[in-house]
Amino acid sequence: MPAFMNLRDIGLFLHSARTDARIERLRPTIGSAAALEAIYAADSDPWSAASARYRYQHRKYEVLISLLPPRRFARALDLGCGLGLLSRHLASRTDNVVGIDVAPSAVARARVLHADQQNLLFEAQDLLSLPSAFDGSFDLVVVADVLYYLSPLDDALLKALAMRIAALLAPDGMCMLANHYFFRLDPESRRSRRIHDAFSWSPGFVLQSEHRRPFFLTTLLQRAGGMPAAASPERRPA
Ligand SMILES: C[S@@+](CC[C@H](N)C(=O)[O-])C[C@H]1O[C@@H](n2cnc3c(N)ncnc32)[C@H](O)[C@@H]1O
Repeated sequence: MPAFMNLRDIGLFLHSARTDARIERLRPTIGSAAALEAIYAADSDPWSAASARYRYQHRKYEVLISLLPPRRFARALDLGCGLGLLSRHLASRTDNVVGIDVAPSAVARARVLHADQQNLLFEAQDLLSLPSAFDGSFDLVVVADVLYYLSPLDDALLKALAMRIAALLAPDGMCMLANHYFFRLDPESRRSRRIHDAFSWSPGFVLQSEHRRPFFLTTLLQRAGGMPAAASPERRPA
């Protein structure tokens, strides 16, 4: 077991797996956004991100922050921020952080949890329809454990998303992707690999570095110079 986990953390993985299974069950009838909102309405912390009981998520956020280059960011965007725990960690390295999530209940809870942080702002937004006012206005965009909730997650959507996210960045901006990864041994890890490859090979980005840690994969990407403008990814039925 990795040093930053303890046996109790198995409970976190079981809880997260139950949450993901519930989303899969709800999605065909009510769609992705409503399924995620229903999850947050029924469970105040569906992925145990805020729970003091588990060590893993907190350590993961610390590792993600440590993988960022040693610079201070002016404005970061945390896409799919959930309860805003990672946004809060980002706030220590950033003048202002905007967290967006498709589930209004998650955003409402994040606002309460982090009301003491002046440089954190949370908005209910779907990452598939971000306002054009966001374009070019962030020097860091973080996407952690979010994209596999998009359905269907095919190569065309991933390519369009990579371009859309690159367009959110200022010329010197960077993107951090983080997703569950268990050495390609399970279907979720293979899906994570596909997500990271689509971003690494996108003309919108230049790959900076990739890091494997138990049990997640992190990729750091720099916005490509002279990048063409991106259209919003087409919204399709869930
Ligand atoms: C596993 S949680 C991760 C939360 C956070 N990134 C973290 O690492 O703690 C996934 C989050 O992605 C959000 N999400 C999924 N699809 C989204 C979308 N299309 N737009 C915005 N948020 C989305 C969900 O509502 C959920 O809060």
